[in-house]
Amino acid sequence: MTKKLLFATLLLLLVWQFFPIDKNNPPIDEALSFSSTVQLSESESLLLNNACMNCHSNVTTYPSYTRIQPVGWWTKGHVKAGRKKLNFSEWNSYDPNQKAHHLRECMEVLNEGRMPLKSYTWLHPESKLNKEQTDKLLELFIRLENI
Ligand code: HEC
Repeated sequence: MTKKLLFATLLLLLVWQFFPIDKNNPPIDEALSFSSTVQLSESESLLLNNACMNCHSNVTTYPSYTRIQPVGWWTKGHVKAGRKKLNFSEWNSYDPNQKAHHLRECMEVLNEGRMPLKSYTWLHPESKLNKEQTDKLLELFIRLENI
């Protein structure tokens, strides 16, 4: 019985590998992107790229481990959900109220330490934000809210 179950599990894992994720990014309209509207310092840009952009933009790069299923599906799920909530590549498609709402939410998730997702920082140490880096991003969002 255990052998059969083990075999079935292995078979399922094997079959899953034939269903890779689509790694193509949605097209990018530079005029809509956050970085084309907002003056970002080099360090702010680096922080955002390392900590947020893989899930909240259309410039996602998928790590090699996403070739393995179900890890790839799980990652893609985060990217889809992340983009839906907030997409920095489509920043200018938001109206002023939506922008203000997103900025407030960004501050909230940073203050609560909810973003970047723990599962992400665990695999991507460069995305982990220390106190100083968190403060830097908070300052950026506060600055933008006051524009
Ligand atoms: C690994 C992917 C990933 C990374 C990296 C990531 N996010 Fe998210 N983010 C998500 C997902 C998925 C959601 C929606 C589900 C949720 O709230 O957990 C989300 C939701 C949000 C929301 C909506 C608020 C809410 O309550 O749901 C904001 C704002 C946000 N993220 C900001 C950020 C910022 C700022 C960064 C970088 C410091 C970041 N995220 C990094 C995946 C990510």
